[in-house]
Amino acid sequence: MSPVPRPADLDAVRDSYDRVADNYVDMVVTTGLGDVRTHPWLRAAMDTFADAVAGRGPVLDVGCGPGQVTAHLVERGVDASGMDLSPAMVAHARRLYPHCRFSVGSATELAVPDASLAGVLGWWSLFHLPRDVLPHVLVSFTRALAPGGRLILATHVGDGELERTECYGGVPVRWTTHLWRPEQLRDLLGRAGLHPEAELLLHPDERTGPGVVIVARAPGPAG
Ligand SMILES: C[S@@+](CC[C@H](N)C(=O)[O-])C[C@H]1O[C@@H](n2cnc3c(N)ncnc32)[C@H](O)[C@@H]1O
Repeated sequence: MSPVPRPADLDAVRDSYDRVADNYVDMVVTTGLGDVRTHPWLRAAMDTFADAVAGRGPVLDVGCGPGQVTAHLVERGVDASGMDLSPAMVAHARRLYPHCRFSVGSATELAVPDASLAGVLGWWSLFHLPRDVLPHVLVSFTRALAPGGRLILATHVGDGELERTECYGGVPVRWTTHLWRPEQLRDLLGRAGLHPEAELLLHPDERTGPGVVIVARAPGPAG
């Protein structure tokens, strides 16, 4: 299953995140939303992932946004770096966490050697990928993972698509959020050659809708 098709709306998604980047960073800093340290269950999932991948090789945070999760992993001894589609997000990440490594790129064009990563994240960053593109991206993640390496992803749960024309304080955007049911994701991960290992369901609250965190493991013994 290769190469990964380029999403027709990739440029629109990049431009949209460039426009919301300032407000997104402000939201993370002032409300704690998006910061795993403020959410005990997300933090537990991320810290368990960190324990599983620390000392085993590089870890790539795909769609890292302003880099707060990448930096959290680095603090926990993980050889993590971040990559994001939006140059404005990456500029914030470099400013906020100058000791960490960040690059601009797309999940659809993963530029890492095969079997080179101990871990990969798709942390609230894969839901804009069109339904027919996500399976290809997951296959590219499987290829990039070393034997026994782990993927952690978090995404919004539901059926269908949400079209947004403004977000994060009324900033104009143009993007689609593709909702997935956990069993659909488990099936996609299995087809991509990964073994789903653990799952955390997030019930809706006053700020966000339902979500899911899934951890999956690449075949083979951990290196
Ligand atoms: C909701 S933000 C989440 C950011 C960060 N992971 C966090 O937890 O705060 C979604 C991020 O995914 C990035 N993104 C969207 N599509 C992407 C793609 N195809 N490749 C890489 N990053 C992408 C956006 O630029 C944005 O920074």
